Amino acid sequence: MRLVQLAHNQISEVLKPGDIGLDATAGNGHDTLFLAKQVGLSGKVFSIDIQPQAIQNTKILVQKNGLDAVVQLLLGSHCDLLSLVDERAHGQVKASMFNLGYLPGGDHAVITSASHTIQAITQAYELTSAGGIISILCYRGHSGGKGETVSVEELCESKQWFYEKTEGSENPTSPVLILIRKN
Ligand SMILES: C[S@@+](CC[C@H](N)C(=O)[O-])C[C@H]1O[C@@H](n2cnc3c(N)ncnc32)[C@H](O)[C@@H]1O
Repeated sequence: MRLVQLAHNQISEVLKPGDIGLDATAGNGHDTLFLAKQVGLSGKVFSIDIQPQAIQNTKILVQKNGLDAVVQLLLGSHCDLLSLVDERAHGQVKASMFNLGYLPGGDHAVITSASHTIQAITQAYELTSAGGIISILCYRGHSGGKGETVSVEELCESKQWFYEKTEGSENPTSPVLILIRKN
């Protein structure tokens, strides 16, 4: 099973209609759309990206699917999550997704970085409700990707969070899925 599918499966066990979801790397909007379908018209999804192109792509996708009222698009860096996300949602987010790396079909120079990713995950944990989940899909095949993946694991260890790690294959450059659960 592809790791993105594994992430969706695990999230769908936690994220239900009426809940709040967060996509910290909107990209082309596929994960945002998945989260929006899970929470439905009574829920809410915050969808963040540092690139206007990604925000625009995500907007078009959710509009096409009639879910634009559910999604709040936020242009900015996920290292500012706590100030970007409405205060009323703090501590209420049931599921957050990070799909690291660059925008497929976009500018490959705009890429997630270990330092921003670590700050963003720390803030996402604060935003998460008890019983919530954070999924982080890390890519080790590009420059900086391996270091970023190690930094994510070190963060989980240092915070003593409950997390599971799944590697795509035995290939050391395969993607890695990290699922953090907040009890
Ligand atoms: C692999 S793509 C995300 C794919 C997306 N989840 C989807 O379903 O199509 C990674 C995204 O992270 C974004 N990104 C990079 N650095 C960021 C940052 N500091 N804050 C927010 N987004 C960032 C890029 O602009 C890119 O769109």
